Amino acid sequence: MKRALVTGGAGFIGSHLVDALIEEEYDVAVIDDLSTGSLDNLPPKGIRLFKGSVSDAELVREAFSSHKPDYVFHLAAQISVSRSVREPAFDADINVVGSIRIMEACVREAVKKIIYTSSGGVMYGENPPVLPTPETSPCAPFSPYGIAKLTGEKYLAFFEKEHGLRWTSLRYANVYGPRQNPHGEAGVVAIFLQKMLRGQPVTINGDGEYIRDYVYVQDIVRANLLAIDRADGLALNIGTGSGLSVNRLFGLLRDQTHYRQEAFHGPARPGDLRKSVLDSSLAKTTLGWSPLMGLTEGISETVRYFEKTT
Ligand SMILES: NC(=O)c1ccc[n+]([C@@H]2O[C@H](COP(=O)([O-])OP(=O)(O)OC[C@H]3O[C@@H](n4cnc5c(N)ncnc54)[C@H](O)[C@@H]3O)[C@@H](O)[C@H]2O)c1
Repeated sequence: MKRALVTGGAGFIGSHLVDALIEEEYDVAVIDDLSTGSLDNLPPKGIRLFKGSVSDAELVREAFSSHKPDYVFHLAAQISVSRSVREPAFDADINVVGSIRIMEACVREAVKKIIYTSSGGVMYGENPPVLPTPETSPCAPFSPYGIAKLTGEKYLAFFEKEHGLRWTSLRYANVYGPRQNPHGEAGVVAIFLQKMLRGQPVTINGDGEYIRDYVYVQDIVRANLLAIDRADGLALNIGTGSGLSVNRLFGLLRDQTHYRQEAFHGPARPGDLRKSVLDSSLAKTTLGWSPLMGLTEGISETVRYFEKTT
């Protein structure tokens, strides 16, 4: 039986990946400190949980030496861009040092490949020269969160050159779907849905003409599975290539939840990009990946989940 280790496996995206790996008959272990993830996202049995931080060298060593994974999916992260701006050292402890600890452990335990989680939304700077943006656009992250994600990719190249570690980095667009945490600052679909289903007022930051590329969580899971034996040494955008404004997203969600209220407009969030849409042609040619889930259907699935859990 092949063994997989998923860091951040109790989180939104990681837990869907855990489900898919179990379905594919992997023996799965998870490292998660449960800071934003939850045990409720994990199957009740059949996985090993190492509870603690990826920046804890001892915990990482123990997880790797006892589970001996063939493949590592590194999703654990401090995911708040604004927290990274307020507390850059905290962010770097998890997103840089934690990632290095995971890569060191991959080398130590001769892991066959690591699939690293990056972000396309923050990678290409405030004004990407081309939309949809391909990977050939200059990387110009401006938040510590984005700097850390790019730094992780540079360390992957280092570990490959120095130790032969195989890797693929997946630069996700804005991911949405069931299990997304509606309490954070990211995850606008989850935040709006929970408020709509509770009949609470919804506030859109700024004028709502911020354009994002929304990709469904199962499409992200599929990209991770495809990367197991493809696209070595590449950083790939994983998005739909289509942009949607927050105002239009609000309208779509309102139709599907039969919410009657208008949105309030609050102050713009400092540092929010005006437009982010990813060109994923490289993922198509190297991974054989393109998104399968349409936005309307993906939102219906997400609405059904939040109706059950709200
Ligand atoms: N959701 C998106 O739109 C999006 C977009 C681009 C990239 N990403 C990346 O995808 C990954 C998963 O994000 P998500 O949206 O599922 O968020 P999430 O918060 O649901 O998942 C993160 C998981 O990591 C765990 N974690 C946090 N700090 C940890 C630490 N120090 N040690 C161990 N575990 C820790 C959390 O408890 C949680 O289970 C992250 O790397 C994130 O940066 C997400």
